[in-house]
Amino acid sequence: MSHPSYPLLFSPLKVNSMVLPNRVAAMALVTRLPGEDGFLNQQTSDRYQRYARGEVGLIVVEATAVHTAKSGNLLRMGGDEFIPGHRDMVTRIHDTSPSKLALQIIHFLKVARSGWRQTIEMLTMDDIQAIVSAYGAAAARTREAGYDAVELHMAHSYTLASFLSGRNARRDEYGGWSLETRMRLASEVIVEARRRVGPDYPIGVRFVGEEFIKGGYTLSDSSYIALRMAQLGVDYLSVSAGGKFEDAVKFKGKPLDPYTGYSGDRAMPPASYPRGVNVYLAEGIKKHINAHGYLTPVITAGRIPTAAMAEEILEAGRADLIGLGRPLLTDPDWPKKTRDGHEDKVVRCVYANLCKQMEENYIPVRCGALWPKEYLHAPEAHDDCEPPEWPTNGNLQVEIKESGRVRLKWEKAVDRHAMYGYEVFRSVNGGPFSHVNSHKATATVNVDDDALAGNRYAYFVRPFDLAGNRGADSNIAEVTVAPKFEGLPDKEIVLDGRVEAQTGGHRLL
Ligand SMILES: Cc1cc2nc3c(=O)[nH]c(=O)nc-3n(C[C@H](O)[C@H](O)[C@H](O)COP(=O)(O)O)c2cc1C
Repeated sequence: MSHPSYPLLFSPLKVNSMVLPNRVAAMALVTRLPGEDGFLNQQTSDRYQRYARGEVGLIVVEATAVHTAKSGNLLRMGGDEFIPGHRDMVTRIHDTSPSKLALQIIHFLKVARSGWRQTIEMLTMDDIQAIVSAYGAAAARTREAGYDAVELHMAHSYTLASFLSGRNARRDEYGGWSLETRMRLASEVIVEARRRVGPDYPIGVRFVGEEFIKGGYTLSDSSYIALRMAQLGVDYLSVSAGGKFEDAVKFKGKPLDPYTGYSGDRAMPPASYPRGVNVYLAEGIKKHINAHGYLTPVITAGRIPTAAMAEEILEAGRADLIGLGRPLLTDPDWPKKTRDGHEDKVVRCVYANLCKQMEENYIPVRCGALWPKEYLHAPEAHDDCEPPEWPTNGNLQVEIKESGRVRLKWEKAVDRHAMYGYEVFRSVNGGPFSHVNSHKATATVNVDDDALAGNRYAYFVRPFDLAGNRGADSNIAEVTVAPKFEGLPDKEIVLDGRVEAQTGGHRLL
């Protein structure tokens, strides 16, 4: 049955032998929930079970090492002993949810606290052949564990991405001579994985549409990389961005982290980045492969906050599946609530990237910005009818701080069961209100760093409880941020047809 507002988002998609119930795909997020032994433990299984209860169409389980060697608190699939743990989780999810499951498998090189890191230029021909075999074996184990698909990680800073990279400095048939030689290892891995899983089993590939480093590749190469993958029979293409070592920031005593530089921001765009900042990459790739006669589904990801935006992307034919990472961590019930007409209950990611910091520090990944601190997984509650209440009307007060930033303060709302947090809405110069931030239940203050001098802003705050029920809007608080200039002759600033302030000069105080 199609959805009245989001007919494409809630339409099924066939990917080889797998039929996805909708177009919402949970992108792989390392959880740091597994132990050092690499086995799939209860906490990790519970995390994915939570996505499945939200009826996410495709759940891509986090990067899982194909290595036999130890790899920190990351999942592993480098031996048959890892299969049963995965099989238990997959069975549990298949028994209770329409969600399909893919396992993302990864090979990466060594990094040391000293700053040293192994690079692809150090690998021998034997090492390269071992990588191909390890991917093939892990893909076969993925199928044996009951997963609906396997996703080959060729994105960001990991081994296969470094071979594809414009910065590949090897000087042999796998080297940086040409796009053809850069693609050789990735192609061999795809062929080997296919040989091991058979023709009917879905294989996806995640790679970057642009590396976002000096000398890195851009859409003009990634279109051809995608085309080659489609020609090799890859069943879906998941387009990410950036995430490279080359521009990473070095912190003393910590191994180099590929998400600390600008390219890292492109991989996990923070709140300061435009919405849908990477969609053009999936769009360009899709256009290119379609023009060559391949209809391989393409996933886009990166700061896609709403179902309305997701539907627009699908409608415009810019991608076939909508990849959500952090928004589904924050609220795994996003798809179910949206489909069932309770979109107003979705708890919105604020892209504060606290989850990213947890991942970088090897500690269990949670939504640090919004979840109450005692929760290891997204809160769940089924109190469907009693929203939080304000003792008065929220008593929202607004002031302009010395720095020019706008500070809001409200009183605490109360809920008979449990408060979750507050959403802050803002209107600029009489325009529509939009959601600009959210806070935990303990907060009573919001500072708006984006308010610009010369504009009139109106705000209200809305409380929500653990079930996502929204309380009433607070009172509306309004403020005009008066521009202060000095150094130029007096000049009128005209706002909404009225003279709001007399100013002089161009320098904002
Ligand atoms: C904590 C964290 C862990 C991540 N782990 C992976 C991973 O294992 N594999 C991967 O391909 N991408 C990983 N990513 C990138 C996400 O899959 C996703 O592409 C990115 O967060 C942008 O999507 P979003 O804006 O919807 O969060 C991770 C991102 C975060 C924040």
